[in-house]
Amino acid sequence: MTASGTFGYGTEYSQLFDIQELGAIICKGTTLKPREGNPQPRLVETASGVINSIGLQNIGVKALIKEKAPVWAEWQVPVIVNIAGDTVEEYGKLAQELDGVKGISGIEVNISCPNVKCGGAAFGADAESAAAVTKAVRKATSLPVIVKLTPNAGDIAGVARAVVDAGADAVSLINSVKGMAIDIKTRRPVIGNVTGGLSGPAIKPIALAMVYEVAGAVKVPVIGCGGIATAQDALEFIMAGASAVQVGSATYSNPRASLDILEGIKSYLEKEGIKKLAEIIGAARK
Ligand SMILES: Cc1cc2nc3c(=O)[nH]c(=O)nc-3n(C[C@H](O)[C@H](O)[C@H](O)COP(=O)(O)O)c2cc1C
Repeated sequence: MTASGTFGYGTEYSQLFDIQELGAIICKGTTLKPREGNPQPRLVETASGVINSIGLQNIGVKALIKEKAPVWAEWQVPVIVNIAGDTVEEYGKLAQELDGVKGISGIEVNISCPNVKCGGAAFGADAESAAAVTKAVRKATSLPVIVKLTPNAGDIAGVARAVVDAGADAVSLINSVKGMAIDIKTRRPVIGNVTGGLSGPAIKPIALAMVYEVAGAVKVPVIGCGGIATAQDALEFIMAGASAVQVGSATYSNPRASLDILEGIKSYLEKEGIKKLAEIIGAARK
């Protein structure tokens, strides 16, 4: 899958490679009303990663349903809509709006955005509020519900258990890790919003350990994400217990990274004589 916020609405990349080959596309985080996002600068490259503070710039759910969903309905690749709200009620409303819309195959609930003032990561940092959001979404839709967890939580396994008890069909993790950079010439933070979310290879070991921990704590499928740039990275997540993976920042240096990784996984399975990916899910746990 492509990770939310790094692959637009899929349409942008359909010119570059055959996106229909992918497992799924997760679109940019979507809110009830359109959002302009945070002040610039919003992106800075760091050692082995990137810090972003986009602040959920998006076209809003109404425009998404009107302009994007009809395009997706023609695609073979399933599109999952990533949603974010400021209140529990907003999450419920978003799920309700998306329910039954042709072209939308599932919802990924972002309770883990580090770049917005209210909601976002605040919901994901605490098991009780994460469960409340999940319940509201579950009640409002019959679509598959994936809850995306934040690494900026004290007890990520506890949050995972709470959202599964509240009705999540799967969990995805991790979102970006809170980070910062300072320009020593201006003596000011580089990012307009002071801090942002760190992603890319720098966070892979953190993500992998969290996927390993969460996969041992819940019975639903776990989707691994964080610093995956090669098939080898993806296979590590699968062996830690992930049933699927998302590719995010790697797309910036190689727009077809997600497809290259998929092809790399296939050739690894062939070479190793493994018939089904399921045979190696959680292999490192046994
Ligand atoms: C520019 C940018 C925008 C992002 N926007 C979203 C978003 O809207 N919703 C969300 O759940 N995650 C968002 N993310 C987080 C990614 O989906 C992913 O969880 C994170 O970047 C870690 O994966 P990676 O290291 O492969 O990039 C964004 C990441 C980046 C770099």
